[in-house]
Amino acid sequence: MKKILLTGANGMFGQDFQHIAIEQDYEIISTDIHNLNITDFEAVKDFFCKNNCDIVVHAAAYTNVDGAEENKELAFKINGTGTENLAKITAEFNIPIVYISTDYVFDGTKNTPYVPLDKTNPQSVYGASKLAGEMAVQKYNSRHYITRTSWLYGKNGKNFVNTMITLAEKMPELRVVNDQTGCPTWTYDLGGGILKIINQSMPYGIYHVCGSGNTTWYGFTKKIFEIANIKTKVNPCTTAEFLRPAKRPAYSVMDNSGLCQNWEKSLKQYLDIVYLI
Ligand SMILES: NC(=O)c1ccc[n+]([C@@H]2O[C@H](COP(=O)([O-])OP(=O)(O)OC[C@H]3O[C@@H](n4cnc5c(N)ncnc54)[C@H](OP(=O)(O)O)[C@@H]3O)[C@@H](O)[C@H]2O)c1
Repeated sequence: MKKILLTGANGMFGQDFQHIAIEQDYEIISTDIHNLNITDFEAVKDFFCKNNCDIVVHAAAYTNVDGAEENKELAFKINGTGTENLAKITAEFNIPIVYISTDYVFDGTKNTPYVPLDKTNPQSVYGASKLAGEMAVQKYNSRHYITRTSWLYGKNGKNFVNTMITLAEKMPELRVVNDQTGCPTWTYDLGGGILKIINQSMPYGIYHVCGSGNTTWYGFTKKIFEIANIKTKVNPCTTAEFLRPAKRPAYSVMDNSGLCQNWEKSLKQYLDIVYLI
């Protein structure tokens, strides 16, 4: 049996990942800020001295995209320095690391799907801090997987799908951005994709682990409401009409090389399970 040390275990992805990995007979060492603060180098080192594992799945992060614009130092401390600490220590212990990154490392100016080696050019503090994490992992631990995901949703966290369903109960009509295109990803697809990479001992490097196909936030909402039989009217709007502190890429579709199934199929499964639809 292989042992995975998971950071960010209490987060939206971390909670689902534990179930998926245990189902595949992995043993999990669950960590989060209360028992492994990744920004404390000595504490991380001490933890690894006391706990053996075969691989690290690093999901802990500062994930408030808009909040990062005002909390740059904290975002870089957690996503950059915290990841650097893990990269250095895993290398010292000769342990491979899986680092979860984001489509927000791209500027969104392409009009064909991003492939892993495309040029990065983050437009937000969050994106830049996650890219700092990617660079640290590449610099300090040659045994690394960088798994970029996007538009993530799962039952245990604040996410777009749950927000839209809640809003639909309160509002007669909704306006949703129709000029940002990306790949919705269910936590189960990200988890499954990561385990596929590990199980098949795929070559170290960068992978895009996101739902296949693509849509806009407006298209995503329409599909959620169609599956959930919600009648609330949805109107398309532009990014300019819905200004947020952090700039988002207009186009962040990623080529996942077949690692995950179609996003619409996953959305249906998610809504079936969580909302019993
Ligand atoms: N959500 C998305 O749409 C999305 C998209 C692309 C990529 N990602 C990436 O996917 C990964 C998982 O995202 P998620 O949505 O599951 O995030 P999440 O729900 O915010 O979970 C992150 C976890 O990390 C913990 N954490 C924060 N600072 C820490 C520290 N210093 N030491 C240890 N743990 C710490 C958080 O604890 P607290 O809650 O107590 O702060 C939280 O439990 C992240 O790397 C994220 O950047 C997410």
